[in-house]
Amino acid sequence: MAGNNLKILVVGGAGYIGSHMVKRLHELGCQVVILDDLSNGYRDAVVAGEFVEGSIADTALLTDLFTAHAFDAVMHFASFIQVGESVIEPMKYYVNNLVGTLNLLNSMKNAGVTRFVFSSTAAIFGEPDYVPIDEVHPKNPVNPYGKTKLMVESALEDFDTAYGLKSICLRYFNAAGADPEGRLGERHNPETHLIPLVLQVASGRRSKISVFGRDYDTPDGTCIRDYIHINDLCEAHWLALQVLLKGGGAQAYNLGNGKGFSVQDVIETAKKVTGKPISVTYAEKRNGDPARLVADSSLARSKLGWLPKYASLESIIEHAWQWEQHICDGVEQAHKN
Ligand code: UFG
Repeated sequence: MAGNNLKILVVGGAGYIGSHMVKRLHELGCQVVILDDLSNGYRDAVVAGEFVEGSIADTALLTDLFTAHAFDAVMHFASFIQVGESVIEPMKYYVNNLVGTLNLLNSMKNAGVTRFVFSSTAAIFGEPDYVPIDEVHPKNPVNPYGKTKLMVESALEDFDTAYGLKSICLRYFNAAGADPEGRLGERHNPETHLIPLVLQVASGRRSKISVFGRDYDTPDGTCIRDYIHINDLCEAHWLALQVLLKGGGAQAYNLGNGKGFSVQDVIETAKKVTGKPISVTYAEKRNGDPARLVADSSLARSKLGWLPKYASLESIIEHAWQWEQHICDGVEQAHKN
């Protein structure tokens, strides 16, 4: 379906994944409204659409927004995502990720908006019983971050039954990479994710990468993750929206490439892609890191018709490297001025 008659609210559209989604929706011809409080996002990452600065904590603002616009659907990316922080400061996660999302859903319900695409996470599964992880895998999140996401998933099932609020939850494994055209990329502050950190070492912004644990039960002893390109994630959102437009809903899909790469694999691939040396130091295991997280995304492939375009680790790292160089150019420029 063409997007030119669709009006979409993208909550968290100034953040890493949300900003790529806004760009894609705009390219597809949608009218996009972005709500973001800029706590983790950047105003200059919003390359299209109408920007509203504000939070999902602000229920009056939400009411105004839903009164001013007749949205066809809402995509929600505005969560806090740091697992470690969620253990130390759970209230922050329950308030934003759970209460904030309920505020948003309540506004949707009041305004009669019935289509919702939700950014969920592999963290809802906790320590895996088996890999690859499919949708029926037991859900035992081991930190407040994963718990709040699972609570929202559960609420969405009830809201479908009671209010006809149709939703699709997309459970990301390790989102990575950047806009292939080089306009957008990952800019977390502080950065905690492996690929951007490794590339900061390659570019000279950081002296070395700490590998958290080298005696996991994996072939090289380092943790294995399923990295998925940001644009492939965005494509899954678009396909999910098409399903919602046809009346589907209350579904959840695991999104990954189905192939695991170790921390060591990521470092070696980054060396190849960048042609730069990458210094490594070995550190203690990080709390709550499962040895292996790999998605079984066959359901998304069959039901959504999803086919990742940038499935290789090389292409994910190439695009992330392009972005890292762009950031470095900006920093150099700022020093010159
Ligand atoms: N790692 C290092 N050194 C670092 C950073 C990470 O060795 O400096 C390792 C981690 O221990 C892990 C792997 O690299 O084994 C990937 O770590 P990331 O922090 O990049 O990603 P996570 O797998 O921890 O987290 C991702 C998402 C979370 C989500 C989680 C689901 O970023 O939001 O997957 O389990 F909750």
